[in-house]
Amino acid sequence: MSLLITGGTGYIGSHTVVELLQGTDSQDLSKEIVIVDNLSNSSTKVLDRLEQITGKKVTFIEADICDEQALDKVFSEHNIEAVIHFAGLKAVGESAEIPLSYYQNNVSGTVSLLQVMTKHNVKNLVFSSSATVYGNNVSPLNETMPTSATNPYGQTKLMVEHILFDLAKSDPEWSIACLRYFNPIGAHQSGLIGENPNGIPNNLLPYVAQVAVGRLAQLQVFGDDYDTVDGTGVRDYIHVVDLAQGHVKALEALGHAKGTVKGCQAINLGTGNGTSVLEIVNTFKDISQADIPYKIVPRRAGDLATVYADAALAGSLLGWQANLDLTAMIEDTWRWQSENPNGF
Ligand code: NAD
Ligand code: WQD
Repeated sequence: MSLLITGGTGYIGSHTVVELLQGTDSQDLSKEIVIVDNLSNSSTKVLDRLEQITGKKVTFIEADICDEQALDKVFSEHNIEAVIHFAGLKAVGESAEIPLSYYQNNVSGTVSLLQVMTKHNVKNLVFSSSATVYGNNVSPLNETMPTSATNPYGQTKLMVEHILFDLAKSDPEWSIACLRYFNPIGAHQSGLIGENPNGIPNNLLPYVAQVAVGRLAQLQVFGDDYDTVDGTGVRDYIHVVDLAQGHVKALEALGHAKGTVKGCQAINLGTGNGTSVLEIVNTFKDISQADIPYKIVPRRAGDLATVYADAALAGSLLGWQANLDLTAMIEDTWRWQSENPNGF
């Protein structure tokens, strides 16, 4: 049997592939891994790194999830039993500039994938959703809260969630985990894979890391007048390896295996803790011993003061919780960034 990982050469996908290849204590999930990625935001160099880390090979197919014929071929040639669907565009600012590309890749692409899965009777899916679907709810955020979106990227995640809920309602054979990620950071401990953004990073951690390594001159801290511990924004940062292990647990919980996920289920993957921007900067400084110049600038439009998860459901449903602390997240980010100063 095989597992299909769309977007598997990307940041979260590549870390998940490592965890899948290395198996878990409870169950051997080290099956054939088939990655489909169009390489719009990743590189095939990741494939060598995956082999270096795990000693195993994956099957890589360069294809776009919007290309139903190509997907059909993948399902015809491999005995796929479940899909983890990471592929998509993810930059909030860019999504307001080119919304159609976001709706095309994230929504139409997912519908294409679901059509092909249906045709081949593959009905087990783990989907990369986001805490962005909680809109302006007050933290801690739990899965029963009403959802909303404030930008086209968030809309695409919300639309796909609605599609998945409708699909599961229409056919009880579907088993779908919509994993709502909080703020994934960190890198694999080997220093061989990590986040590799194109151009100037939008997210805090890659930005701070590039300042620390000397690629960028100065961090802009977006606002210091929030009602938080030091006035800067607070987020629930989660180590990408913990996140990856959450996917393995979610896969085990789908209908084809243990079956604790029935129909379509939204599940937060976060730590339940909040950390401010300045706490991140200071911890990064301590660990890297690098200078991290920053200046306080006005708030970024659309940002909330505080966002963190209620992480209880993932514990009860999947038997998963985050284990790695902020020190590990930043040590691993720094190892990755300092050993690969210009990415791949
Ligand atoms: P990433 O850009 O590193 O990985 C996404 C991968 O999908 C890339 O390798 C890209 O080349 C590929 N891809 C994009 N469009 C495609 C298409 N049409 N067909 C085939 N491949 C395509 O991003 P990531 O951080 O690993 O995120 C993975 C998923 O998790 C995304 O769906 C993202 O929206 C979601 N997510 C990410 C975060 C985050 O902060 N990183 C938070 C919440 C949710
Ligand atoms: C974190 C904190 C900023 C950059 C985004 C998406 C969300 C999800 C994760 C995909 C905030 C501050 C940032 C900088 C700063 N992605 N900051 N200077 O906004 O919580 O979430 O990524 O689903 O949908 O919205 O993450 O890393 O951009 O910001 O001061 O240069 O860092 O204001 O408080 P965010 P982030």
